[in-house]
Amino acid sequence: MLEVRHLAVNYRGVCAVTDVSFRLEPGQIVGVIGPNGAGKSTMVKAILGLIPRESGVVKFRNNSLKQHLAQIAYVPQKSQIDWDYPITVFNVVMMARTRHTGWFRSHSRQSQAIVREALERVGMWELRQRQIGELSGGQQQRVFLARSLAQQAELFFFDEPFVGVDKKTEAVIFEVFNELKYQNKTLMVIGHDLGEVSRRYDRFLLLNKTIIADGNSAEVINAKNIQKAYGDGVFFLRSELI
Ligand SMILES: Nc1ncnc2c1ncn2[C@@H]1O[C@H](COP(=O)(O)OP(=O)(O)O)[C@@H](O)[C@H]1O
Ligand SMILES: [Mg+2]
Repeated sequence: MLEVRHLAVNYRGVCAVTDVSFRLEPGQIVGVIGPNGAGKSTMVKAILGLIPRESGVVKFRNNSLKQHLAQIAYVPQKSQIDWDYPITVFNVVMMARTRHTGWFRSHSRQSQAIVREALERVGMWELRQRQIGELSGGQQQRVFLARSLAQQAELFFFDEPFVGVDKKTEAVIFEVFNELKYQNKTLMVIGHDLGEVSRRYDRFLLLNKTIIADGNSAEVINAKNIQKAYGDGVFFLRSELI
């Protein structure tokens, strides 16, 4: 599905990500964990071509990823979205269709139905005429989740979708993730802390500039790896993790 080989990213000559290699298979939810500043967001943006790579190769179904962007959904970290931008909930989700079909076809009956279904799925249809700036953090996250659903993508990237969301939103997000998984989609989810992610995902990538560990939760979330990625300070969390 997705193959990343020897990915490296520098910001003004300073290395943020180096020698990252992995493959993603369909029907998996993969959690990316690692400390703040580890390069998790940078890695995803570089995979998508949103920022330049220093080196490395990214293939989607053995092809250049650029030709398949319509099949790849990306929900950025909340802090990277301009919440003052004047746009309604409905139109945020409709943007996913615009990208798919072009502006004129995007408002077709079919697209309208897809947008409605996505908003209903996350419980946001009633608020469709609201400005996105007038939503709670959880509601905002659900709108962007709906947008990714409306795109009908094959591969999904979510950057810290659980930050600042309520319990209801958290439950909706996990339900949707599992539905996507059983539709054989591929999901890469960046987590912001370790407690939240354990047991929910099929596989983990532990990142700190490069991949420290890659595997199931027992293989990745153990004292040795956590210390390697986070340093000694996180040791006290161990009992919660395992
Ligand atoms: N636009 C940028 N310009 C310069 N440095 C950046 C930029 N974005 C991120 N960085 C730096 O790159 C490193 C990785 O950041 P990031 O990918 O945001 O980490 P994470 O998502 O794991 O918290 C950090 O040291 C961060 O300060
Ligand atoms: Mg980040």
